[in-house]
Amino acid sequence: MISLNDWEPASWQRKPAEQQANYPSAEALAQALTQLASLPPLVTSWEIEALKKQLASAERGEAFLLQGGDCAENFSDCSSQIITNKLKILLQMSLLLIHGLNRRVIRVGRIAGQYAKPRSADSETQNGVTLPSYRGDLINGQEFSAESRTPDPVRLLRGYGRAAMTLNFIRALSDCGFADLHHPENWNLDFVQHSPQAAEYQRVVAQLSGSLRFMETLIGVDNSEMKRVQFYTSHEGLHLHYEQALTRRVPNRSGYYNLSTHLPWIGFRTSGLSGAHIEYFRGINNPVGVKIGAGMKPEYIRELAERLNPENESGKLVLIHRFGADNIARELPPLIESLHHSGIKALWICDPMHGNTETTASGYKTRRFDRILSELEQSFDIHQQQGSLLGGVHFELTGDDVTECTGGARGLDETGLERAYKTQVDPRLNYEQALEMALAVVRHAAQ
Ligand code: PEP
Ligand code: CO
Repeated sequence: MISLNDWEPASWQRKPAEQQANYPSAEALAQALTQLASLPPLVTSWEIEALKKQLASAERGEAFLLQGGDCAENFSDCSSQIITNKLKILLQMSLLLIHGLNRRVIRVGRIAGQYAKPRSADSETQNGVTLPSYRGDLINGQEFSAESRTPDPVRLLRGYGRAAMTLNFIRALSDCGFADLHHPENWNLDFVQHSPQAAEYQRVVAQLSGSLRFMETLIGVDNSEMKRVQFYTSHEGLHLHYEQALTRRVPNRSGYYNLSTHLPWIGFRTSGLSGAHIEYFRGINNPVGVKIGAGMKPEYIRELAERLNPENESGKLVLIHRFGADNIARELPPLIESLHHSGIKALWICDPMHGNTETTASGYKTRRFDRILSELEQSFDIHQQQGSLLGGVHFELTGDDVTECTGGARGLDETGLERAYKTQVDPRLNYEQALEMALAVVRHAAQ
């Protein structure tokens, strides 16, 4: 077993840290972090341990993880409609998956903290002027001006505040009539009746409602558990000073928890074994995710799993593979085999978005529905052939009617992208495409 004696929340600072913001004033940063460290946590260790148990059941094939949300949240997304629409689509997808896969679904949003982004270049030049790249609202502003692009540590406090407001609303909704499985009509979005998938969705809902009534009649009570849903949060743990400030000890449990979110993950660009991100993540008690992509070697996966799951716990490590539809068949099998030989426990899930990004002739960053679906279908098959299990999916999606990915039942083509192309980073599945994706997953899994 790897010893944690040499780990502390700040030990990552002794390692090279990729993708960090360059603040002009160390003192202003220190002040913001001191304040952050004194504020209450956003989530609790009980919730984190409950999620770990759920993830362990997904490893055993009893549950399925649905993780989804924006590529990057903006502070301006902290509004009633955007949050409820995102909850609605995730709840609707989860119903389809429960019904079609016959497994419980663990719902995890990329929400309430997904404010920091890795970038391919540190700076951006426009008309001869070079400024720092936009790194997400937690760090700087989108607008191309020196003032907006200079990293501002006060944004860390604003990000914490936005995350708290978002989470407060999610918790209130999850625990009241909105989440009541007896009334899934609460989750309908205005445009759902026009959607090509509406009829199939409504048929599934009617069947589930019927089963629920049957069960309650049989047991003779109203099942109050069905009136609330469990909803967890996740974000890329990129900004290590922010994550450290929310890393705390809790009474009656040993070790440290990152109390900014339930399931933090390590991005593809910051997953180097000798880097600061692996160092930080190896010491926290949360379940942790890590993106797995093209070029990663079997020996790397083994070492990574040993570092991030030092006590070989179930439900502790989520490996999120994102190879792209053209690469997965070649790249994934040796990694599955390597993990299997290591004996280390992990949950495999598929992010079919990040390996399938392309740019159109007119300059839109997009993803094709068919390629996303192809990677997902291949994932199910490859895991099955290897005696492994695909335990979940990870999507970039929104509950809104955007036009960012092409394809799907409505046949959105490249010329249609401009109608409602809103993302500032990666293209997301819109509401209809997300629902269609859930139906397609279920159809494939049933084959
Ligand atoms: C993301 O999830 O938005 C992302 C940047 O993914 P990856 O680290 O897999 O490239
Ligand atoms: Co993204």
